[in-house]
Amino acid sequence: MKIEEYLESLPQNIISGDDVQLPDKSFREIFNFVGLGQNDIFYHLGCGDGKGVKIAVEEFNVKKGVGIDNDEQKINLAKNTSGKFLCEDVKNADFSDATVILFWFTDEKIIAPIMEKFENLKPGIRIVTIWGPLPNCLPEKTNFPYIINTVPFKKANSLQEQLLAVFGVKCVDFVTAWEFAERYTKAIGDPNVNNDRFLTIIQTLVIWINAKNLGVACREEVPESIQTYIDIMKMHFDIDFQHLLKD
Ligand SMILES: C[S@@+](CC[C@H](N)C(=O)[O-])C[C@H]1O[C@@H](n2cnc3c(N)ncnc32)[C@H](O)[C@@H]1O
Repeated sequence: MKIEEYLESLPQNIISGDDVQLPDKSFREIFNFVGLGQNDIFYHLGCGDGKGVKIAVEEFNVKKGVGIDNDEQKINLAKNTSGKFLCEDVKNADFSDATVILFWFTDEKIIAPIMEKFENLKPGIRIVTIWGPLPNCLPEKTNFPYIINTVPFKKANSLQEQLLAVFGVKCVDFVTAWEFAERYTKAIGDPNVNNDRFLTIIQTLVIWINAKNLGVACREEVPESIQTYIDIMKMHFDIDFQHLLKD
């Protein structure tokens, strides 16, 4: 089965990210990294059950903590915790008084319209994204997979420049792909999961193959370790990656 078919067989609310909730330790890492404090007005866009806002208010003493989500059930749940919660589409939301925003979306239909709003925020406002910076932007600071984008955004001239800023490398080889796949799984995964290697392998293959197809892999040839993992996934799990490799 192709990797796409495997992913489709998983629960769609998880794959879409809609029911993915960051663990408490990830929120604390993010808030320490961005230096969240008592002078901040914090917004969590797509706040889910409101845990992030609660931690921002109760542990980081922000002046104001606001959570926005378009899922009424989640917002009703969040309203039992500290902070202010609004049930609305993030695309229509007013967060113009924010000093720090947490934004973890991958859906282009959300990212494109919200970029315009982000660009009009006051200079110095920090937007934390996870995994990648805002489109075509260079991050202010990176602690992968957490990324701080600061208004006004610095534009990236090329994918290589963006890659260098995020991964600290000029091209992606097996080691980089593995290291960053592992960091990502550990950062946002459940701390009690011990064996997340399967996920790390999938993630590593996806990172390296995407890098190759985008022309930012270190070598044109498939590294031996990548080919070995492609073969293992096919042989032991019947999950096929080979077709993703463009000539
Ligand atoms: C981590 S976010 C990202 C999910 C999103 N599908 C994506 O990757 O682009 C998940 C949270 O955002 C909420 N959400 C999804 N779309 C939204 C929207 N347009 N406005 C407000 N909240 C949204 C979900 O209810 C969920 O609690």
